[in-house]
Parts: sequence; C-alpha cells; structure tokens
Amino acid sequence: AYVITQPCIGTKDASCVDVCPVDCIHPGPSDEGYDEHEQLYINPDECIDCGACEPACPVTAIFEESAVPAEWKSYIKINADFFQGA
Ligand code: SF4
Ligand code: F3S
Repeated sequence: AYVITQPCIGTKDASCVDVCPVDCIHPGPSDEGYDEHEQLYINPDECIDCGACEPACPVTAIFEESAVPAEWKSYIKINADFFQGA
C-alpha cells in the first residue's frame, strides 16, 4: 500500500484524493482538535497500489510502503491505525 507521511501535515493539499480511483484516501479528524498527526490517510486494505497519488502530491508526502524514508517509517502504522476504529 501507499503511505502518507509528515509533509502532509499542515498542507493537506488533497490533490491525492481527486486522483485515487478507489477513494481510499481519507481526511483525519482535524475538526475535533485532538489529532496531532493532522493529515490525510490511505487505507492499506483498499489501496490498489496504482501509484496515481504519489506524483499528485505537491509536497512529496506519499510513498510506496517499501520506499518510505527511514525517518517516516512510523507513518506506515499511523496510516493503518487510522482505519482500526480507534
Ligand atoms: Fe489510491 Fe492508487 Fe494512491 Fe493507492 S496508490 S492511495 S489506490 S491513488
Ligand atoms: Fe497530503 Fe499531499 Fe494528499 S499534502 S492531502 S498527501 S496531496
């Protein structure tokens, strides 16, 4: 699956949402004020690895799971956890 990482925080350009063919990119609970990782998230169970979102992001926040830079590896779990209903 593809993963959204730190550069999305504070940017949330949302161009990725428009290009995703399966609508698996979802906004975080930004209106509720408790999400320190205020960003959008990719549902790893729905992502079909088409790659369309990666070049659409103006701040290069999106990476294929195996290509996430070392300092942002934690975002693989952050994206997945968002869809666990926590
Ligand atoms: Fe959506 Fe494709 Fe990006 Fe997965 S890789 S989140 S399916 S646009
Ligand atoms: Fe975030 Fe980039 Fe999408 S800033 S909302 S991952 S286009």
